[in-house]
Amino acid sequence: MATPAGAIDDAALLQAAEAALRQAYAKYSDFRVGAALLTSSGRVFHGCNVEIISFPVGQCAERNAIAAAVLAEGPTMRIARLVVAAEFRGGIAACSPCGACRQAIMEFGADATVLYRDAGATLILKNARDLLPDSFAFGGGKP
Ligand code: THU
Repeated sequence: MATPAGAIDDAALLQAAEAALRQAYAKYSDFRVGAALLTSSGRVFHGCNVEIISFPVGQCAERNAIAAAVLAEGPTMRIARLVVAAEFRGGIAACSPCGACRQAIMEFGADATVLYRDAGATLILKNARDLLPDSFAFGGGKP
């Protein structure tokens, strides 16, 4: 999905993701994650990871950003671009979206562009479909 004309650029989205990670509640891992997503209507939503002492109950930054976007824009919300930023013990950390988040991104943006840093802090750009080939769909259909 193309980024709308005049929309926020990737540097600004990365900045928004970095601002979000500062809000992370990463008490158990100290791995802070922020996600900023641009919707097809040109609005930006953020999420950070929220950890819970019963570890599986915690939620990733990407899915929290998606929930915020759906709450604001409703069920037709579509992701155009999503940027993930992370820090571990205060330093920049690589963080490609986890498998569950990839499936969630596919739900709302199979054509989305996803950006995240690799281990060398280089920003990687991928299509959502390439991040999760053969994503789940009922009856094997295409999302
Ligand atoms: N985390 C995310 O927020 N997004 C991901 O895609 C991968 C992992 C969070 C979950 C947990 O709070 C911390 O990072 C360490 O796994």
